[in-house]
This record gives sequence, C-alpha cells and structure tokens, in this order.
Amino acid sequence: MTRKNFVAGCLAIAAAALGAGSAAAQDTIKIGMVMQMTGPNAAGGREISAAAKLYVAQHGDSVAGKKIELIFRDDASIPDNAKRLAQELIINDKVSLLAAGITPSAMAMAPISTEAKVPTVVTISGTSVVTERSPYYVRTSFTLGQQSGIIADWAIKNGSRKAVAVLSDWAPGAEAGKVFESNFTKGGGQVLETLKVPLANPDFAPFLQRAADMHPDTLFVFVPAGQAGTFARQFAERGLDKSGIKLIGPGDITDDDDLPTTGDTLLGVVTAGIYSAAHPSALNKEFVAAYQKATGHRANFLAVSGYDGMHLIYEALKKTGGKTDADAVIAAMKGMSWESPRGPISIDPNTRDIVQNVYIRKVEKKDGEPWAVEFATFEAVKDPLKEAAAK
Ligand code: PHB
Repeated sequence: MTRKNFVAGCLAIAAAALGAGSAAAQDTIKIGMVMQMTGPNAAGGREISAAAKLYVAQHGDSVAGKKIELIFRDDASIPDNAKRLAQELIINDKVSLLAAGITPSAMAMAPISTEAKVPTVVTISGTSVVTERSPYYVRTSFTLGQQSGIIADWAIKNGSRKAVAVLSDWAPGAEAGKVFESNFTKGGGQVLETLKVPLANPDFAPFLQRAADMHPDTLFVFVPAGQAGTFARQFAERGLDKSGIKLIGPGDITDDDDLPTTGDTLLGVVTAGIYSAAHPSALNKEFVAAYQKATGHRANFLAVSGYDGMHLIYEALKKTGGKTDADAVIAAMKGMSWESPRGPISIDPNTRDIVQNVYIRKVEKKDGEPWAVEFATFEAVKDPLKEAAAK
C-alpha cells in the first residue's frame, strides 16, 4: 500500500466512522423531561411522566423514521435545579426537545430554551406569562385565568355576591385570584378578603376558619395538583361542607387524582376546569382506562396535559420529517389542532398558548366514587390575560 493510499484509506475509515456516528445520533430524537418527581409538586411530575410513557407505549417509539427516547430528570421542585438540568440535558445528553413542568421551573428554564434554541413543551405551568419567556415555548397545560374568570361569571349568575379567596401563595395562585376578582367585581360582587396559604406542607385550617368568620356566601379556592385531598379533609373538619358557603374554584380543587379519596366532602362543589376523567367521549374513556391500567390512578388534568404534550411533539416531528430545528418545530406546532381526551384543543399560532374548552362541572357520586361531572361548556377559550393585553 502506498503512503498516499494509506492516508486516503484512513480518511475514508474516519469519514465512515464519523458518518455512522452522526447517522446514529440523528436516528434518535431525545426529549429531556425536566419534572418534579420530589418536593411539594411531586404529584404533577409523576402524572406527566406516566402519561408521556403511556403515549409512547400506545403510539410506538419511532416517528418520521426516528427513534424517540425520553430522558427524565427530577428537579425536586427547585427552579435552579431545573435550569441546570436543562443545560446538562442539552450539552451532555444532546436532547433536541425539552418538556417543562411547574411555573417556577419553567421560568428558570426559559433562557436556556431560548439561547440553545430548543423547542420546549410546557406541560404543567398555568401562569400566563410563562409562554412569553421563550419564543420556543409551547403550552399544552392551561392557564388559571382561563378557568377563574369563567367560574367568577358563573358564581355571579348563580347569586354569589360576597366571596373570600383562599389561594396557594405562588404565581398560579396570584393569577387565579386576580382574574377571579376582576370578573367577580365586574359582575357586582365583592371579594371580602384574599388569604394566602404557603405552598409547601399547607395547613388550610386557620385560613378556612378566618374565611368562615367573615360569613361570605362563596369561597373561591385554588390549591395545586396533589393538595385537593388535604384541602377537602380540612374543609370538612371545620364543618364548612355543611355551612351553606358555596365552594368554587378552578378544576385543581377537584383534581381527579385526589377525588376518589375525598368521600362525600366535595359533593355539589362546582368548578370550571379543562379536564374531567368523566368527560363523556370515546377517546377519553379509552385514555382513562389505559392510564388506570398503567398506573393504578385515575387520569387527571395534568396527565392529559402530558399526554397532549407528547402528541404535539409527535405530530410536529411528522410535519418536519423528523427535523428538530427549533424554528421548524415551532412553526409546525403553531396552529395545530386535535381531539384530546379533554375535548378539542389547539395551539394559538400567535401566542403558542393552548386554546381549549372550559367545562363547568359539579361533583357527583357515580358507582360509589365522586367525579366532576361536566354540565356546561365554554368553547375554545384563550388565556384571558393575553387577550386583554392584545386589546
Ligand atoms: C403551575 O405550576 O403553574 C401549576 C401547578 C399545579 C397546578 C396549577 C398550576 O395545579
């Protein structure tokens, strides 16, 4: 072998190796799931992970000729961890997409998504501003405003005039309270007081006592996923379920993951929510049965948000032919609409936020368990805070 041929041969081998390496890398699309598996929001992380895995199990782990690999990381509900984990997933694990969870973690990850140009699906956060923090953020969860304005209007229509608000003390709670109060006062009602309950290890009892002492006709409550069971127990311990005060709120206070544990306490409670496991569609029945089988739990509003997050990623990758370039993926996601287990949903092409039905639901017993049964529908509801800002 001449020296020239030897060098050419080495180069050819190196090129082949490089080619094989990059082909292998390109054949797998990694999705970094930065979730809350521990800490005060651990219920949500468990639900998103289970739903995302269920979606992959049902739809296969390849899309547009690429293998899909989910990589889960626990940020322990701490925003600095979320930011570091997002960075590590991009640099070390070479993920092409990210999924974000609760508001503080999603806020912390936004600059990373922007700088590294990584499309990110927001699967839990319900705070309006989150989608504005990165041009590569797209939300499949909800906003608290979407639900809180509608329940305020419903309460006014049904005779409520004096309300006390009990809110989990962080961004989504503040937003629920703000939109509720705005609509409730516009309708001629009055919010007597707003009480803020710490997010971690909450003791609702003293706040509920203070609220009851003010003799409102209505109690508007926001607690995040995972706290509805504790809240319901303390509500009943104060005798508030028999006080005649109407309990209302966004769907979170009748979380389907907790409802089966609440006995008769929440019967009759009316909420405005984006998802009920009792939603009467064939697709939802199938989803609830599959989720129950996979996890032993009833599917809830976060499970459906995680499931839809995966659907959005799969369908966008089909449209881009498997390309993960951020601008192409986001363009594919904008305006996408589909039938979710929660009903028809779409991604607003202008805001990258979710547009969805909001249902008025009443807690009723069916087959011995409480369910949030839908009885009225507000169609294609956008985030009211973005709508107001656009005017
Ligand atoms: C949020 O992170 O904004 C959030 C989390 C749990 C909820 C609602 C909102 O139930």
